[in-house]
Amino acid sequence: MKKVFLSVMSLFAVALLSAKDIYVNSPGTTLLLKAEAGLPLHVSYYGERVADAEQVYRAYSLWEDAYPAFGLGNYDITALSVRHSDGNMSTELTYLSDVVTTEGNSTVYTITMKDKVYEFLVDVCYRTYDNSDVIETWSVIRNNEKKPVSLLKYASGFLPIRQGNVWVQHEHGSWGAEAQVSEEALKPGIFEIHDLTGTKNAYMNRPNLMISLDGKPQENYGRVVGAALCWSGNFRMTIDTQGKKIHRFVAGIDDTNSQYTLKKGETFTTPVLALTYSNEGLGGASRSFHRWARKNNMVHNGTALRKTLLNSWEGVYLNVSQDGMEKMMDGVKQLGGELFVMDDGWFGNKYKRSVDDCALGDWVTDTGKLPKGVPALEKACTERGLKWGIWIEPEMTNTKSELYEKHPDWVVCHPTREPSTGRGGTQLVLDMSNPAVQDFVYKVVDDIMTETPNTYYIKWDCNMETKNFGSHYLSADNQSHLYVDYHLGLIRTLKRIRAKYPDLVIQCCASGGGRVNYGLMPYFDEFWVSDNTDAKQRLFIQWGTSMFFPACAMAQHVSASPNHQTRRSLPLKFRFDVAMTGRLGMEMKPSDLSADEMKFAQSCFKTYKETIRPIVQQGDQYRLISPYEGNGYCSEMFVGEDKKEAIFFAYKFEHYVDFFRPRFYFAGLDPNATYTLTELCRQGNADHWEGSSFTGRFLMQQGVEIDFRGEYASKVIRLTRGS
Ligand code: GLA
Repeated sequence: MKKVFLSVMSLFAVALLSAKDIYVNSPGTTLLLKAEAGLPLHVSYYGERVADAEQVYRAYSLWEDAYPAFGLGNYDITALSVRHSDGNMSTELTYLSDVVTTEGNSTVYTITMKDKVYEFLVDVCYRTYDNSDVIETWSVIRNNEKKPVSLLKYASGFLPIRQGNVWVQHEHGSWGAEAQVSEEALKPGIFEIHDLTGTKNAYMNRPNLMISLDGKPQENYGRVVGAALCWSGNFRMTIDTQGKKIHRFVAGIDDTNSQYTLKKGETFTTPVLALTYSNEGLGGASRSFHRWARKNNMVHNGTALRKTLLNSWEGVYLNVSQDGMEKMMDGVKQLGGELFVMDDGWFGNKYKRSVDDCALGDWVTDTGKLPKGVPALEKACTERGLKWGIWIEPEMTNTKSELYEKHPDWVVCHPTREPSTGRGGTQLVLDMSNPAVQDFVYKVVDDIMTETPNTYYIKWDCNMETKNFGSHYLSADNQSHLYVDYHLGLIRTLKRIRAKYPDLVIQCCASGGGRVNYGLMPYFDEFWVSDNTDAKQRLFIQWGTSMFFPACAMAQHVSASPNHQTRRSLPLKFRFDVAMTGRLGMEMKPSDLSADEMKFAQSCFKTYKETIRPIVQQGDQYRLISPYEGNGYCSEMFVGEDKKEAIFFAYKFEHYVDFFRPRFYFAGLDPNATYTLTELCRQGNADHWEGSSFTGRFLMQQGVEIDFRGEYASKVIRLTRGS
């Protein structure tokens, strides 16, 4: 008996000795893992950086699978569910090995687990960077069994969260009203957001959420975990709350109708789930994501200042013409803008794009509208010292198009079905899982760049969901791969385009902000935030979008008044002040501006380019007062990385006789430095603080009152640090 006891003890000791703490460290955070032979990988802590695992183990009892698999021990929600080659539905992963490698400024942790019985392996991977507090996680699933296995669920990541007063915040919306902020306390049961539209996953629910560990989420204090799935297709984010101990958070590709088969020897790499932890509330989590995107995860690394532009859409819609485009070029030149973009309406031969029911896929100039062709427009732009840009929607076609007549089998639809159509009653989605379609889409861009090599900017649109499930290209067995293979095909194509045209600036548009996700950020420079350009509603949409995405990636345009979407009339100053918190542009005929308006618009462009742009596009964003709080005003500010300069924005969008005179508390400043306040783009009298200096501490703790007069008043204030 004693002997047995001793051997059990020594086995335990060996197990403990062979157990290994893995610190997945970003500069300010730690995800603590425990790897032990014969057991699954465990996660025991995620939070502020720690150096002593023993302290964590003594203090807390969190001990959960880092990547739970279904079928043995796990009956709760899991990250992985597999039907093995012999039909067995259970998986038992145990730790095999781990390796840590350095790649540039990042460290990659690869922890390999293997099924106890089957030749089925999963690498659970993490990446950290030396310049931001985001930890990326993903898994690589390998089938070394003798026959195919089916992945029934293949999430990117899993995180247990201790129960308490835990809240979740996320953005949801619809066309013209994207990224509306929604928050709620987690209760027993399931909290879930997903998107099943196939092509554009960010319209209704964005593939990202914030989890506040200290109650109702606050902007600049409280512990927050942020999570963003780097994927452009169907997704699901679930928080399962059972019992009294933990919330189980799982995020990844939505597996509905997406069973994925791996043949012997095949591998599936899940998209990345990016996580951050902050003690500084939602704002801290947002700033981590912004920094991570700007420095590591977006094309051109967010280092180049984004150019101001005029887009033709709301100015002329589909009625493009040589003369009309040149007039707009003159307008943007006069305004001091740097780039002109011709939107939809320029193409079509047999079918002409004068109505939005035809010609997608027929990317040849409509010579009726543009007799001298696109090269003449590119030249006209260059001659004016402007950059040239053009709109395409390359993943789409119409039943009324030469492309569809030639390749009816290229659209997403099962061969047995009559396709159900989208915009114009004719639009269809091309099947990006088909390599021939990928080549075609690549060629759309390549042909443009060949014909007009000085093209600086492309607006890449995507206006339809996959209404027709099915593929002419995929085999009968692999039809359920469509949702996933569509996006793998899209990414393959984008990589090819980026390899040949690394400097091209590409905007990601999907009927507005339908594709605002981190899956596409490595290929696109910016997002069209919304088709709704009404500045009041934009305050809400932009606020929500900024939760995860940096200002340099947010395309924000001043449009006509009354606004075309809401019919609301707003002062030009208010429209500019709202647009200037991102990449500034215009979307109207400049010739519709009065002489005074033109003068004011010119001064805004100048001030934006010289003073505001570097701080907004490359500084840290501090959201201060939310428009969702219902006060009728809101504010935010951007602070340069060296804290020498900051730009503050405040907006009043409701007005009463006894309107409260708000006091604004600044953030992110150096408390010991002195800052001088100067109003930018001012109309009317100077405020009482104009030209005065205050310490950063005073501005942050005592704040400054702003004299808002009338409805739709706004202020932009520059803060300059004294020497
Ligand atoms: C979508 C875009 C718009 C515009 C039109 C053109 O709706 O979001 O900005 O480009 O398509 O058809």
